[in-house]
Amino acid sequence: MDKIIFFDTTLRDGEQAPGCQMNENEKVAIARQLQRLGVDVIEAGFPASSNGEFRAVSRIAEEIGADKESPTICALARALESDVKKAYEALKNAKNPRIHYFISTSPLHMEKKLRKTPEEVITQAVRIGKYIRETLGIKDIEFSAEDATRSHEDFLCKIFEKVIEACSRDGTEKITINIPDTVGFSYPDKFVGLINYIRKNTKNIDRAILSVHCHNDRGLAVANTLEAVRKAGVKQVEVTVNGIGERAGNASLEQIVGNFMLFGYEHNINTKLIKETSELVSRIVDIEIQPNTPIVGKNAFSHQSGIHQDGMLKDAKCYEIFNPYEFGCSTNLSIGARSGKRGFMQRIKNMGLNLTKEEVDRTIKRFMNICDSKKNIDDVDILIAINGKEVKEYYRFIKYFPKITNRGFKVEVVLNEERSIKKYCGIGNGLIDAAINAVKKSIKTEGLEIKNYLSKSKVPGSDATAYTYLEISKGKYIIKSSANHTDTITSAILAFIDCANRAKYFDDFFKRRK
Ligand code: KIV
Ligand code: ZN
Repeated sequence: MDKIIFFDTTLRDGEQAPGCQMNENEKVAIARQLQRLGVDVIEAGFPASSNGEFRAVSRIAEEIGADKESPTICALARALESDVKKAYEALKNAKNPRIHYFISTSPLHMEKKLRKTPEEVITQAVRIGKYIRETLGIKDIEFSAEDATRSHEDFLCKIFEKVIEACSRDGTEKITINIPDTVGFSYPDKFVGLINYIRKNTKNIDRAILSVHCHNDRGLAVANTLEAVRKAGVKQVEVTVNGIGERAGNASLEQIVGNFMLFGYEHNINTKLIKETSELVSRIVDIEIQPNTPIVGKNAFSHQSGIHQDGMLKDAKCYEIFNPYEFGCSTNLSIGARSGKRGFMQRIKNMGLNLTKEEVDRTIKRFMNICDSKKNIDDVDILIAINGKEVKEYYRFIKYFPKITNRGFKVEVVLNEERSIKKYCGIGNGLIDAAINAVKKSIKTEGLEIKNYLSKSKVPGSDATAYTYLEISKGKYIIKSSANHTDTITSAILAFIDCANRAKYFDDFFKRRK
């Protein structure tokens, strides 16, 4: 079976989505990660759209695409000489350059958007194809019929035949014919029918690599892409990391890879880098991944209900169709109100604790009460349930004094530490960092590391309460806390002090238990 070609358009279609704009360095960082991931074709951008975009594509061509083994670096262009020339110039340092040009083919787009007759559209597509091949000497060309799924089937066959003829003459050229579902209008049967019709009725289609590019307006981008491969012999899939893209987005790379794994399609993607790639893109475009997102969501391999945890402990296949490790993820048996005795006991065992039968019954009862009263359960809650005692306020916040000077940020934090008043001073790259660095100086607990820090307002308005969520690791254990305050810095200090108090509880528990 041939390998399926992964064409990633995170940097082009993904970046076109509102809020997903990236600067030059961010684009280069993502391109580098896509190369590590094993993407075959990186669509680096649309050079004619702005000078910044031109520079980003040029840098990607030079820094990521300069070797023979580098991925193909692709640049998008409208079917205009000026556009393809820009694409050509931006790709000048790429060893394997591809120009991807497009023109609309649906009656609606041709009439309303382009104001051209179908014959004029064909003439333009053919002229530009020839220009790319003959004048610019590019041997790897992709042509897209924009809005293909709302175009007449016979018109598509006609334009594809002429474009293939224009772009590939002596058999040394590579021509890719892309069928985009530009507005996410199609559904699997219809899409497969269209592609098979094109395959049957376009004379020279065998000279081209068939590709699909699906948008997610109906939530069918992944299904349409997958079925095009399974039932219409498509060899290239156009995807984006986390499915970002125009409007409802594009087919998600992660989900297509997951499905290929189950269907047994071969490809060059190093699946173990999927999670970190998803996280990098999410961080750069500042779009959080919904927890229930397949494969890369926080909950994709989490199991909380008692019945599921019991099944997972007997055989992970009971509730996992993928091995999370294959995507750089791991299973998480989170402990909470629904996790049941078995999962809870497993966690106790993992913590190296042995409980008597009476202790077990008492602990579980207390633990259920804790779960009913709070959302983010951590390992300290388990110890509280065993002990039956609340976390003591070893450290208590009194006030802080911020100072912003030319040299940076400084915060003095005043704490009550077991009934004595102490002052600690910290500096940092902002007031929160400086405040946390001040509080850190007071903490006697060893080996604490901030794993997750989140600050947001829960309601709109500048008078909103600031919510801080903090996760701190202590070796293999996780301590969680949160705080609310109208002042963001106070909220961060309170959350951190709560973590410090919980860490102290943790230390005292194990010291006593020895
Ligand atoms: O959705 C679309 O039609 C596109 C083309 C440029 C391929 O993004
Ligand atoms: Zn698109």
